[in-house]
Amino acid sequence: MNRKLLCPSLMCADLTELRKEVADLSAAGCDIFHCDIMDGSFVPNMALGLADVKAVRKLTDRPVDVHLMMDSPAEKVDWFLDAGADIIYIHPEAERFPGKVLRHIREAGAFAGIAVSPDVSLEQVTELIPVCDYIMVMTVYPGFAGQKFVESTKTKIRRLAEMKAEYGFQLMIDGGCSYEVIREMSEAGVDGFVLGTSALFGKEKPYETIIEEIRAL
Ligand code: DX5
Ligand code: ZN
Repeated sequence: MNRKLLCPSLMCADLTELRKEVADLSAAGCDIFHCDIMDGSFVPNMALGLADVKAVRKLTDRPVDVHLMMDSPAEKVDWFLDAGADIIYIHPEAERFPGKVLRHIREAGAFAGIAVSPDVSLEQVTELIPVCDYIMVMTVYPGFAGQKFVESTKTKIRRLAEMKAEYGFQLMIDGGCSYEVIREMSEAGVDGFVLGTSALFGKEKPYETIIEEIRAL
């Protein structure tokens, strides 16, 4: 099995201590810093923003991903490219011509990704798969940390795992990633996991111990 890509969800971190959080998560061996950007319209919440992404960029050389939970992301991806994001995820259902946006992200030198919500089928995103470097299945409804893993998403995850070899994308999951979910989905072929309150934040154990335990699953 390949090394898991572990992506701490920074909206769950202590934002009053961002510098320390990023340093501790780096020291613990996290791979990609996951930044949730919400517009209060596509999802009924707001989380991090452009200024936060710029701050995170200054604090680490590790990859930073931006998960755009917003309507019409085409108009805004350049802001996040300029802020230094390495990976940008859009929700295809939020954009009229998502393929154009994904190609634009790639042409700008970043990695392009789609976030596939629980109610979006693989059939709806088939045309986009060849233009994706990352496919992130949302295993909760986007917008909030601390929700329960949506079991029905497993079918889609398993089907995507079978398609990885042909297309070469990284398969990620976001939401409700507990140790049990990570063990099972890693065996199913998932490459990377967004870590929020289910496994990483708000626990008694240090990040280092948790990351070691997750790597051993
Ligand atoms: C939304 C976020 C959340 C969250 C994940 O896109 O990325 O899914 O922080 O963490 P959990 O679900 O474990 O709190
Ligand atoms: Zn996310």
